[in-house]
Formats: sequence, C-alpha cells, structure tokens
Amino acid sequence: MQNYFTKKVNFYGDTNPKNLVSEYGSPLYVYNEKILRQRCRDMADFIPYSNYKASYSTKANSNLELLKIIREEGLHADAMSPGEIHLLLAAGFRPEQIFYIGNNVSVEEMMFAVNKGITMSVDSLSQLRTFGQFNPGGNVAVRINPGFGIGHHDKVVTGGKDTKFGINDDCIPEIKAWIKEFNLNLIGINQHIGSLFMEGDTYIQSVKVILQIAEQFEGLRFIDMGGGFGIPYQKQDNEAPLELKSFGEQLAILLSAWAERNNPDIMFMSEPGRYIVAESGVLLGTVHAQKENSGVNYVGTDLGFNVLVRPVMYDAWHDIEVYPIDKEYAYSSEKRVTIVGNICESGDAIANNRKLPALSIGDIIGVVDAGAYGYSMSSNYNNRLRPAEVLIQRDGSHRLIRRRDTLDDLLQNFCTDKG
Ligand SMILES: Cc1ncc(COP(=O)(O)O)c(C=O)c1O
Repeated sequence: MQNYFTKKVNFYGDTNPKNLVSEYGSPLYVYNEKILRQRCRDMADFIPYSNYKASYSTKANSNLELLKIIREEGLHADAMSPGEIHLLLAAGFRPEQIFYIGNNVSVEEMMFAVNKGITMSVDSLSQLRTFGQFNPGGNVAVRINPGFGIGHHDKVVTGGKDTKFGINDDCIPEIKAWIKEFNLNLIGINQHIGSLFMEGDTYIQSVKVILQIAEQFEGLRFIDMGGGFGIPYQKQDNEAPLELKSFGEQLAILLSAWAERNNPDIMFMSEPGRYIVAESGVLLGTVHAQKENSGVNYVGTDLGFNVLVRPVMYDAWHDIEVYPIDKEYAYSSEKRVTIVGNICESGDAIANNRKLPALSIGDIIGVVDAGAYGYSMSSNYNNRLRPAEVLIQRDGSHRLIRRRDTLDDLLQNFCTDKG
C-alpha cells in the first residue's frame, strides 16, 4: 500500500508536486536539501575513525548546486572523467579533494588531471605504464580487483572475474616493476566491488583483502575501499535501510589495527554515490494516456527511459507515488497497472504490474528515490528534452537548479556548412 514517503518527510516543503510541475514543466527532478545533507553526514560519520574520509562518487548525480552542498558538508569526491573533474572544480572542490578514478583513459585525460594537481588511479598495468611514460616520477594510485564483487545487477558488479575493472593481486610484482621503471610514487590503492548492497559483510571481506594487499606496498598515503552502499528502494514494503552503525564500527576496528601495525598516518576513504543522493530525489511525471492491451492496463506518461533509465537498464524498482490532480487518493479503486513512457521502444516501462489507485489523465506521478543515476544517466534519445531540476531548500522554499532543455539546445552542437 502507498504510504506517501514524501508526505512523511515533508519532501516538497512549502510547495507540492502540482505547483512544481505547473511552474517548471513535466517531467521534473525535485531534490530535498535536508535529506541530502543528512545523507552526507551519515557517510561522513560512518566509520568512527579519525583518518577516514567519505569521497562522493560524482557519477551518481553531478548537478552543480548539489555538488556545492556535498562539498559544504565536508565530503571529498571521486571523478570518472575530465567532465566530472571540471564540474567538481566549478563546485569549489580543491584538487587535493578530488580523486580521479580512470578507466581506459587517454593520455590527454591523464594529463588533464595531473596538470591540475589531482591524484589519479589507473585501472590496468597498461595504463600504469602509459601513466609512467608521460608522467615519470609522478604520484599515482592503482585500482585493485579483490577477486570478488557484489551488486544488485550483473552490470554493476565491478569486482571478481567477470569485470573489466581493477588489477588482480597476482599482478603485484608487475605493478612494482612499472613503479620502479618510471620512478613513480604509489601513494594509494583503491577498489570498488559493486553497487547497492544492503548488508556490510561482503564489503568488510573486501576491505580485509585490500588491507592485506596494502601491506605489500610501502609509502601509501591512502586506501580507498570503494562505494556501493545501498538504500531501501522498496520503502512502501518497509524495506530496512542499510545498518551503518555496527558496519562502521567493525570497519573502524579493522582500519585502526591496520594503521597501528603499518602506518598511523594512512587515510582511509570510501566512495558512496547512490547513498548520498538517491533518497533526496523524486522524479515527477504526468499521466497523458491510458489503455488496456491484452489484459495489461497501461498508464502512458512522459517518464520515458531517456529521463530515468534504471528500470530499463537494471530492472530496477522505484516506489511510485500518485498525486491525483483534483480528487482524493482512493485506495478502494486500486488496480494493477504498468507505467510506460513516451519513447519509441517497447521496453520503455518505468514500473511493471503495480497496484495503484485509479489514475486519470493529468494526474502526477512521483518516482521515489530517483536522485542517483537519474538525471546523470538521462539523455536526449528521441530528441526529447531533459527535464529541469529543482531544489527544496532547508527553509522549505524551492529554487530552480538546472533549467529544462530547450528545442534550441538540440540544435546547438551541429556544424552547419555555411558555404
Ligand atoms: C569506482 C566507483 N566508485 C564508486 C561508485 C559509486 O557506487 P554507488 O553509487 O553504488 O555507491 C561507483 C559506481 O559505479 C564506481 O564505479
């Protein structure tokens, strides 16, 4: 049954979905600053160990205004591309607060980070060699594959045998050889085993592995344990959140023992992405059509997978809220529906077979927990316009933090032959 997550947390502050959509258009991403700040604090305090830093994974959501809030909350950040570095610098992060986690990047991209004084991690022996050739004597980190991974879908498992990520531990002699050859300083090692776990066991296991591997290197300044911290996407079914307290305490014991034995100055990092931003975002859309086809009740909306791709890409679940436009929410009239978008692909469904109250054209739908990998994975597919983004500020007021695309935006990168 719907329990109105957004009502419980007063998500929309002084306004409501109907007013937001009429002011900024539909679809629309809406973020709540209070929730965002709270999640930053959860992660900043996650491990009760003095030399621990949470480093936000920018790919989850790179809205400039949200990045500024995350920086204000004292988090560092990781970047996967020069574009993310560019945004982080624009948001006021200092180069030493940014960690560039490269994956199959060009020399130009490496030097982009190096020239800005940003530490980068390389993800293969071949990239380590390239880095050494172009930046001999430089500081570098390497991404380790601890031999196993975890994730809510095969596509987001980033450790273990079936992934392109990381350098296996049997390559440690070669890592050392390239470090020596190019007189590099190996200042950090990092890993990321995958995304969206709801229990800490596998992460803890992977931390034990990276700590063992770290003992084989001298002069490390940091060990980055990766992200993947899950959030409860099935709130309407009372899914429990990730239990951070004892998880963090167990990690603190491991980390302080390692530091005491090996290097008291070492800094430990994590890379939360989704955990920081997912719950602070709701995607609003509008019902434009209804049809019954072979026993399936379709609700046709403007929520195509160009706006939120997670359900199509990962079979991901998002709770759905319904904001009837001019009637009360009627539980008595609930029926099973499939909510589809406006993209020309038959897989374009945002929620399948959901029990929802009878919807009418013009009603607004809220896709909950859409703050992570929502806008950041959106596109102009079908030449649809990407939505605006609005922030509900701490005092309950709201402001636009990214305008909606315009039709002219679709034309702006073309090079017209003027001859
Ligand atoms: C290297 C790296 N670090 C951190 C993350 C963040 O993962 P999550 O958003 O699940 O915390 C990712 C996600 O893909 C990643 O690739």
